Amino acid sequence: MFRVLVSDKIAKEGLSPLLESEGIEVVEKNVSEVDDLDSYDALLVRSATQVTDEVMRKMPKLKIIGRAGVGVDNIDVHAATERGINVVNAPSGNTIATAEHTFALMLALVRKVCQANQSIRNEEWNRSAFQGMELYGKTLGIIGFGRIGKEVAKRARAFQMRVLTCDLVLTDEEAELRGVTRCERTEIFRTADIITLHLPATPETKHLINEDTLRIMKPGVIIINTARGSLIDEAALKHSLEIGHVGGAAMDVHSHEPPENYDLVKMENVLATPHIAASTKEAQLKVAAIVAQEVLNFATGKRVENSVNFR
Ligand code: MLT
Repeated sequence: MFRVLVSDKIAKEGLSPLLESEGIEVVEKNVSEVDDLDSYDALLVRSATQVTDEVMRKMPKLKIIGRAGVGVDNIDVHAATERGINVVNAPSGNTIATAEHTFALMLALVRKVCQANQSIRNEEWNRSAFQGMELYGKTLGIIGFGRIGKEVAKRARAFQMRVLTCDLVLTDEEAELRGVTRCERTEIFRTADIITLHLPATPETKHLINEDTLRIMKPGVIIINTARGSLIDEAALKHSLEIGHVGGAAMDVHSHEPPENYDLVKMENVLATPHIAASTKEAQLKVAAIVAQEVLNFATGKRVENSVNFR
């Protein structure tokens, strides 16, 4: 029997390739509540379960970890590789959900939707308090031009925004085809009205938005983050918002989740959500189905497509 432990809440419907297969047993239980960890061959997680070396040590039979999502920063991939454990993710499953949430945050922030909603719920009728800004004609800087960045660019073009990106591998032809302009990252910092982040959490991307980069940004710039909290030095951002240099910020992701301190997310010109960009019915079904199929492929000796550590 090939035993699969599903440690986070993963869409059941998407797990059907595993649930319907003979010779595979699926147990849905958090890692911390399982006594017989040593009997599992596969582990499926979202982002809540921290798959540390210690967890892997308790699972000597573990051969594959499936991440129902993109970011693998909750998994010690290095330790997994050392132990010969395959780590697979679902890189395409939540692209659309995240790109759409980026726009949900951007529009809600520039049109003060949340404040206006709160005001009318308080039985106030205050039309003059909520003057916003249009996206039309504004320059959007997209930092990180992978799957999500590209979908964000498509939607930005529909809003008739000017789109800048600093991707190194993007050719001039592709940039033209996508209606985006390639430039240096510094140019994005200096010229964009709105900057949106779509990079993974790595040592290189840590605090990409910091005191120095904030200082060169246009006064009134708006920053959107649906990627990873570590990309922003939150103290520096808070200061820049306080002095009115940054005009507003919207983030779905936070340096600590949940935040250790809610001061930043409670600021007037900040809009925050609790890491829900990928939380649509469609995306959760897709990511579950992708990793379930990968684990099934692995269990039946077939090739896995989305290994992040074994190619
Ligand atoms: C991802 O990395 O896939 C997203 O941040 C959503 C999630 O953590 O599940």
